Amino acid sequence: MEAKILHGKVVAEAVKEGLRPRIEKCIKKGVYPGLVVVLVGEDPASQVYVRNKARACESLGIYSETRCLSVDTTQKELNELVDRLNADDRFHGILVQMPLPKHLDDIEIIERISPQKDVDGFHPMSVGRLVQGQNTLLPCTPAGVLEILAYYNIETNGKHVVVVGRSNIVGKPMLNLMYQKSKHANATVTICHTGTRNMEEHTLRADILIVATGVPEMIKAGMVKDGAVVIDVGVNRVDDDTRKKGYRLVGDVAYDEVKERCSAITPVPGGVGLMTIAMLMKNTVQAAEDHVNLKNNGKK
Ligand code: GUN
Repeated sequence: MEAKILHGKVVAEAVKEGLRPRIEKCIKKGVYPGLVVVLVGEDPASQVYVRNKARACESLGIYSETRCLSVDTTQKELNELVDRLNADDRFHGILVQMPLPKHLDDIEIIERISPQKDVDGFHPMSVGRLVQGQNTLLPCTPAGVLEILAYYNIETNGKHVVVVGRSNIVGKPMLNLMYQKSKHANATVTICHTGTRNMEEHTLRADILIVATGVPEMIKAGMVKDGAVVIDVGVNRVDDDTRKKGYRLVGDVAYDEVKERCSAITPVPGGVGLMTIAMLMKNTVQAAEDHVNLKNNGKK
């Protein structure tokens, strides 16, 4: 069976194009959507992500600033910066790039960001609203997965979705999105993690398998049901002397063998990774719109 390739790039472009009229409308109402990204330290992968976020903002006409802080920034300094950004009307979204250096408490920082500006959807208020099925800013990567499924008309209603990985950034919010009683979800969900026994017993039952483990190519063809849809969230650098950079990117799924078995699959790169930034742009615009509506006392 020839698997359909689910191109994140196409979906990401469609999402971003859909934002242009919304951005124009905000600007007409006197609000220029704005995002601030905070990067602590010099992790090379994080530097790439942060640069790509700034570029995406620029291409859409979203105001953005990047605050680069030294690796020895204290908790107090970071807390105070977040307080200032919460109070700064130029920014409707605040993103603190994870992971933070070990001496900093990420939970404390996430809880300090105003929920109205929580474009990562990581704040406990955002998580709680998501679980309760209320309107909220959704975590970008899982929301991007949902967007890919919707774009390619992949039915989720009543399907069995298996999520592999239970991170706060992907696995848990992915689970919480997929069981919601909404048009592009309403699935039965299983979540697998490092404590799961006989992983393949679960993955083999998946109509839609979503993998976010950070373990390069851990999902092999023998773990996937014939005709399943496979969404690979992983982006891993593995050493490769034949490449100029000395590494290549692979997902959490053994792509070449799994694509022979499944009906559709996201590639790495070119799959889910591109969605995260598109959804961040969407959340920033949403936060700006909410700000406009608040300014106008809810009058649209
Ligand atoms: N690090 C990896 N992914 C993310 C993300 O979606 N948001 C933030 N803030 N940091 C990340």
